[in-house]
Amino acid sequence: MRLAGGAGALVLAVAAGATATAWWRARTHYTVPPHTLVVPSDSASIARGAHVAQVRFCTDCHAEGLRGSVMVDEPMIGRLAPPNLTAGRPTPLTTEAWELAVRHGVRPDGTPLQLMPSHEFTTLTDEDLGALVAWARQLPAVDSMAAPTKAGPLFRALDVAGVVDLYPAALIDHAAPHAARITAAPTVEYGRYLATSCSGCHGPRFSGGPIPGAPPELPPAANLTPSGIGHYTRADFARLLRTGKRPDGSQVNDFMPWRFTAALDETEIDALYAFLRQVEARSYGQR
Ligand code: HEC
Ligand code: HEC
Repeated sequence: MRLAGGAGALVLAVAAGATATAWWRARTHYTVPPHTLVVPSDSASIARGAHVAQVRFCTDCHAEGLRGSVMVDEPMIGRLAPPNLTAGRPTPLTTEAWELAVRHGVRPDGTPLQLMPSHEFTTLTDEDLGALVAWARQLPAVDSMAAPTKAGPLFRALDVAGVVDLYPAALIDHAAPHAARITAAPTVEYGRYLATSCSGCHGPRFSGGPIPGAPPELPPAANLTPSGIGHYTRADFARLLRTGKRPDGSQVNDFMPWRFTAALDETEIDALYAFLRQVEARSYGQR
């Protein structure tokens, strides 16, 4: 793990205290104001849901068909196991459970989820979230369920040190109103809406740098502000997102989820491009 590598002793010292703090945080209960989400059933909405799941990287973590995956399972780091979300799971997800998990990072009992990046999805519109759930519900039911996600001592220490956010629920304004829909147009506003899903790796201000908590063998994220990719034309940007090729023809590491951004449509690429061109230029790694 990138930071732990350089500061192993410090992290281990923090780990003891972290265990108690993490125990307390895991038991914090969140109260979320009720909100009615309508789940459509028409084929256009289901197709829309499949698209949203891809460009928001749900299927990068929860795997194809949302059947679940075990991304990491190591004693010190812990187990990162985005669960099966299909109708075949032992406890099917109610509409309320979907909304609480995706927009709020909490379970129906109010306890927080670990490492599910709900802070990036809290602004999803009712239309997009409803479509996502509609799509998920008609996927082939998978009945296997891996052991749950559980941060190990290192991840808990990084959380207490403020390096990673183990419980994204703590980052969310749970009382914020939810937009019913957003107009898909080549606008900065639509680009901002889509780009929240890039911020987990490229940083909240898009200047890239080491991804908090990521293992050292993974490359740092690139600077997407004008000082990083200001030289990209719209065509360069589209090529990178569709094929993973930079303007000079070199291939980015597969950790950049270009196989998922490949599904972005022309309007979405226009919007992301317009948005990233007007964010504040920052030097590399200022997150
Ligand atoms: C970075 C990986 C990652 C991404 C991206 C991600 N998830 Fe998750 N998700 C997780 C993990 C890990 C958990 C389990 C958290 C736990 O059990 O504490 C989870 C839990 C959930 C749950 C709760 C399931 C349950 O058993 O209570 C739902 C629902 C969910 N995710 C939906 C989504 C949707 C929809 C998207 C895309 C908009 C998405 N996730 C994107 C990692 C991810
Ligand atoms: C899971 C983490 C992750 C997510 C999510 C992600 N990226 Fe990346 N991205 C990376 C990494 C890591 C690199 C650097 C890869 C390398 O150096 O080989 C990168 C590289 C890039 C580059 C290439 C810059 C250059 O010239 O080197 C662009 C452009 C880019 N990302 C755009 C985006 C956009 C736009 C989004 C959101 C729609 C996004 N990324 C989401 C991890 C991510």
